[in-house]
Amino acid sequence: MKIAWGITGAGHLLQDSVEILEMLSMDHKITVFLSGAAEEVIKMYGLYERVINVTGGYYRELVIEAEQKSSYPIAGRFSLGKYDLLVVSPTTSNTIGKIVNGIADTLITNIIAQAGKGNVKTYIIPVDLESGIIETVLPSKLELEICQKCETCAAATACPSAAITPRMEINLLQCQGCGTCQIACPFDAIKGGKKIKIHMRNVDISNTRKLYEFEELEVLKHPLEIKKLI
Ligand SMILES: Cc1cc2nc3c(=O)[nH]c(=O)nc-3n(C[C@H](O)[C@H](O)[C@H](O)COP(=O)(O)O)c2cc1C
Repeated sequence: MKIAWGITGAGHLLQDSVEILEMLSMDHKITVFLSGAAEEVIKMYGLYERVINVTGGYYRELVIEAEQKSSYPIAGRFSLGKYDLLVVSPTTSNTIGKIVNGIADTLITNIIAQAGKGNVKTYIIPVDLESGIIETVLPSKLELEICQKCETCAAATACPSAAITPRMEINLLQCQGCGTCQIACPFDAIKGGKKIKIHMRNVDISNTRKLYEFEELEVLKHPLEIKKLI
């Protein structure tokens, strides 16, 4: 099968999505599409290399927002029905909000719109599904109450991306999620994968509900469901 997999800038369900993507790439040709935010966020969680590893070759490209400018010519593949399937997982509340309002001005919203026109079967996995509280995972974080404010910060010295301002914070836009800092800090002040609880906003849940009314796409709750459907 020729599959297109879109990733937006959500940390929630990101690891699960990359795992399913890796599994499917063994038997199928997959083109991966990253929103601008996805390109940043996927690095923060240390998953970028894994996505690079499943791409390479015709219809196995890694397509990034910045290289597509504003008209998204590659989306023509969808209006021409060149893919058997489009999966977007994880899908941010931002992208869901745009889809339900008919906006197609980003790489991901544009390929979804073109997939609708080209009759390409589309599965969307939103991160904001039901109201209430959800548990989600953070990228690396410097815990200031644990940090011993060392004169020479071992974590900052070890970081290959120079992403740490000693005694202050990690610049996530520079962080590659490699975890070197966590090993280097003798006081264990940098945590990766910390779980936090966040509240779902009504506007996001209401947008996700509207998505169920779209005939040209199907909403799934978890990327694992894709495995059963292919
Ligand atoms: C570390 C990190 C994690 C994020 N996780 C989420 C998330 O789980 N869900 C979400 O809707 N937005 C999340 N965001 C915010 C989105 O990246 C942001 O709204 C972005 O504009 C979405 O753009 P996109 O929909 O084009 O990918 C996260 C941002 C960062 C920096």
